[in-house]
Order: sequence, then structure tokens, then C-alpha cells
Amino acid sequence: MEGNEIVNVRLGEGEGSVVLLDQTQLPNRVEYVTVTELPQMVEAIRSLRVRGAPAIGIFAGYCLYVLARQLAEKGAEGPAFQKELERQRTVLVNARPTAVNLAWAVERLIRRSAALSGAHIGEIVSALGEECRLIRREDEEMCRKIAEYGLSLVKPGDGILTHCNAGPLATSKYGTALGPILLGKERGIPLKVYADETRPLLQGARLTAWELQRSGVDVTLICDNMASMVMKNGFVQACFVGCDRVAANGDTANKIGTSGVAILAKHYGVPFYVLGPTSTIDLSCPDGEHIPIEMRDGEEIRSLWYREPMAPAGVKCYNPAFDVTDHTLISGIVTEKGICRPPYTASLKRLFK
Ligand code: MRU
Repeated sequence: MEGNEIVNVRLGEGEGSVVLLDQTQLPNRVEYVTVTELPQMVEAIRSLRVRGAPAIGIFAGYCLYVLARQLAEKGAEGPAFQKELERQRTVLVNARPTAVNLAWAVERLIRRSAALSGAHIGEIVSALGEECRLIRREDEEMCRKIAEYGLSLVKPGDGILTHCNAGPLATSKYGTALGPILLGKERGIPLKVYADETRPLLQGARLTAWELQRSGVDVTLICDNMASMVMKNGFVQACFVGCDRVAANGDTANKIGTSGVAILAKHYGVPFYVLGPTSTIDLSCPDGEHIPIEMRDGEEIRSLWYREPMAPAGVKCYNPAFDVTDHTLISGIVTEKGICRPPYTASLKRLFK
């Protein structure tokens, strides 16, 4: 932590490791973990020590750079270096399937290295260092712009419902869904946040409530099944959520439970906005049917956050980590390049022109 600012991932001493804030320990402990080997890196992503689509991308970029340095130190160069780097890239990408930012970030390093084939290995490694630092810097800039656009959608005193965690912990700075709220706080624009607890891994309770509370934002934690009541009571004027992959038609994968929030929002006439950088938009994916959904261990539902198991041992569980919100339920997709409105097939494509 630097001052009040959260530094969720960074390069370690001499750029020989990656240091990450262990998000599984929040909100009770602020603990950092240092990883140097590929299996530790994969474990950190799988166990959600580092999580949130852009943050996973930034972390994986740092990891691939650290691994490239190790390869170079062992004397690898030329096609052998590139082949091994590509193998490590694939292992990292396979750690979690849904968030496209992971593949997007490491692919940038692979392309940079391939473009320099024939160059001195030292030059390649230093270019990879530049690229992974650039990914982080760009994410900060993107989040800041998303925050500006998002803030234009609300007015002082509004209530905003959010699901999961799409704040600085999940990105680089500001966050996506929480960006407008944190920027509003900086500018003295009061906004009230209702944070869904977000079963089963409680990112809303453990991370969103923690981030917003320590930033002095008016945040109220609710159980997921209270969102309907909060909307019915007129407490919220907008829903802001993050995203893990946006398909070409605007269908959006985000934390399990997001599509339920969108359905409720439609029922109660509350605008439902998805906020994310263009690195989360996957135009090669035609629609939500094609987004791979990560399935996780049933123990997360049965026992993980409880002093004692809260379900019979061995009971069957269905535990998808994400769901897809149909594009027809989304009022707008807020990116660093502007706010896309339906029809998304056209408005998303325009972003990449
Ligand atoms: O399983 P997680 O905690 O990585 O899921 C995170 C989310 O679904 C976030 O809302 C999404 O990654 C956007 S983060 C800016």
C-alpha cells in the first residue's frame, strides 16, 4: 500500500519477481505475496489472490516478463526462447478462461517478442519489461476515462447498485464500475453505493465494501437477494457493473449474479450500465453463447467462508463463476473511448475503427 492507495500488483526487487496483494485475505489482513515461478503464478490467479479482469491481465504481463528474464539468464535465445515463452503464455492463459484481458495482455508480450526476433536477447527482454509497464499505465488511463464517462450518467445524491468488485483492486487505479464513484468522491460529488455481497466468494462484502469504506464513500452492504427490495424502494438510480468479456453483440460475462441484477433493473426501470476497458471487448466472440464460463469447486458454496460447513458434506453443487447478461438488458457499455448504446453490434465495432 502506498499512502491510502492500493497497489495490487507490482514488479518485485530487481524485477525478478511479482508482488501481489493477496485479495483472499481481505478485509481482515493486508498481506503481500511474492511469486517467481510459473506454478505459483498460476496458483495466484486460480485461487483469486489476484482477480478482476484487468488486474489479471496486468499481473500475467508482469509474470511473463519475469519468466522471460529467467529464460534469458539461463541462456535461452532465438526460436528456443520464443517457443518456451509461448508455452508459458499458454499455461498462464489457461489458469482462468472467462476474462479475455488475461490472454489480451500476454499476447501483447508475445507479439512484441516475435516482432524483435533476431534481436539481441537483452533487447527483447527489455522490450517486454516496457510492454508490461505500458499495459499497467494504459489501464490507469483507461480507468480514469471510464470514470469520467460513468460520472456523466449520474447526478449528486444518486444511489448506485454494484455487484462483485470492479474497483482499484480489480484494475490498476479507480477501477471500472467503481471509477465514477471514486472520481465523484474526489470532486465532492456525493453518491451512495449499495454493494451486493456477491455469493459465493463475497467480493462485494470483502473487497468492494472495504475499498469504498476506506475511501470515505457512503457504502451499504446488502445480500444478493436484497437487490430487488433496494430497487423497489427507489434507493438506486443506476446499476454499475464491471465485465470479464464483452461479445461482439454486447452480451457481457461478469460475476455470477450479474444477469439477475440486470433482469431486476429492467423490471424496476433502473438503467443498467456495464463499465470496462476496450481490452475486455472480444469482437472475435460473436455472442454470450461463445464465452467460456469458468466452473469452480463446490466447496466455495458449502464451506469456504464459514466456521463450520453450511451444507451437508458432499452435497452436489453447481458453481459457475460468471454469467452472461443479455445485451437487451444493458442500457450502455461505458469504455475509455465513450459510451456505446444499442445496437451494440455497430457501436462496439465503431470503437475499433
Ligand atoms: O472472479 P473475479 O473476482 O475475478 O470476478 C471479477 C468480476 O467479475 C469483475 O466484475 C470483473 O472482472 C470486472 S473487474 C474491473
